[in-house]
Amino acid sequence: MTNEELIKRAKEVQKKAHAPYSKFRVGSAILTDDGEVFTGCNIENSSYSLTICAERVAIFKAYSEGKRKFKKIAIVSDSKNFISPCGACRQVLMDLAGPELEVILTNSMNEMKVVKLSELLPLPFGSKNLKKKKRG
Ligand code: THU
Repeated sequence: MTNEELIKRAKEVQKKAHAPYSKFRVGSAILTDDGEVFTGCNIENSSYSLTICAERVAIFKAYSEGKRKFKKIAIVSDSKNFISPCGACRQVLMDLAGPELEVILTNSMNEMKVVKLSELLPLPFGSKNLKKKKRG
């Protein structure tokens, strides 16, 4: 699947965004290593902090269908600035997809920038930090 095709899937799901408060509509599509695509849009809540971003919806949908390996994720919005995942999404993507995930950032001029997740989140916290030191 090309980056352009993945972006197209993200644009389709962007239409389903539930963003009555910010009016900022986001769509995302993530590609698994076995070639499946899972999409997600942002879903806002009247208790604002309960809002969930498009990227997390996409990867959580994939996870709940048993997918564990991912190649790339595309993100779209209507902004002329490149949309880049928020800090919370970077952490979730790092844990669930890993540092090699390709992140396709887009803007409303149909331009794209491709970066590795490790570039967006250097020196990440992860499961390795939770391992207890062996006592001996
Ligand atoms: N949002 C996303 O869905 N993804 C991003 O990468 C950035 C922000 C959503 C959250 C909220 O619904 C709206 O955009 C404004 O922050």
